[in-house]
Amino acid sequence: MPYSIHAITCGARIAMLTETEFSLRQFNTRDLESVIEINRTCLPENYASFFFMDTFQNCPSAFRVAEVGTRTVGYIMCRIEHGFSDVKRLKFVRKGHIISIAVMPEFRRAGIASELVKQALNALQEMKADECYLEVRETNETAIELYEKLGFSLARRVPHYYADGAEALVMVAPLAGNARSSQSAQA
Ligand code: COA
Repeated sequence: MPYSIHAITCGARIAMLTETEFSLRQFNTRDLESVIEINRTCLPENYASFFFMDTFQNCPSAFRVAEVGTRTVGYIMCRIEHGFSDVKRLKFVRKGHIISIAVMPEFRRAGIASELVKQALNALQEMKADECYLEVRETNETAIELYEKLGFSLARRVPHYYADGAEALVMVAPLAGNARSSQSAQA
């Protein structure tokens, strides 16, 4: 099902309201170049092609892309891991992990990232993950607000997590039995 963006296009003298539709689907190998371009445009953490493909193979249904027309404008990719829960003491759990998410600057604030996260969480839940984790720079208020709106909360801080020495917030959201209102991740 397509979603609608109400975008304001500003010319020299006029502002015109246009409506654009975006849709989400699973990543496929033909998207690789576009996803790498979005990643390099939007984030300082960049990866080699094989890392994107390895992540896709680990968790295909939670690697989603967003399209406006024929243009790929956003992506989210995740992994399934195992480890001790940050919220349930001494419990060994199956963890979903959001590795990377980005939306091209001109398509932001239209709900695309929210839908990408919701679909990824549904996919991780279908893969029997108990919790979903992510790291975010403590200065990335935009992303932190997005994650909090979608049910993530602070689990812990990791000093010097990023290559430039910045601290990461590790955030977690429960998954099991937590149905979300978004289209299925099977599309
Ligand atoms: N300022 C404040 N809050 C913002 C915001 C901004 N510029 N952009 C998004 N948010 C918050 C708002 O709460 C928003 O809800 P609202 O529009 O109803 O107020 C909510 O996030 C959802 O926004 P959404 O439109 O779904 O997000 P987006 O498609 O614009 O994408 C990012 C958000 C973070 C993915 C995008 O800004 C981006 O690609 N940033 C660079 C890459 C990045 O930081 N990735 C995360 C790394 S952990």
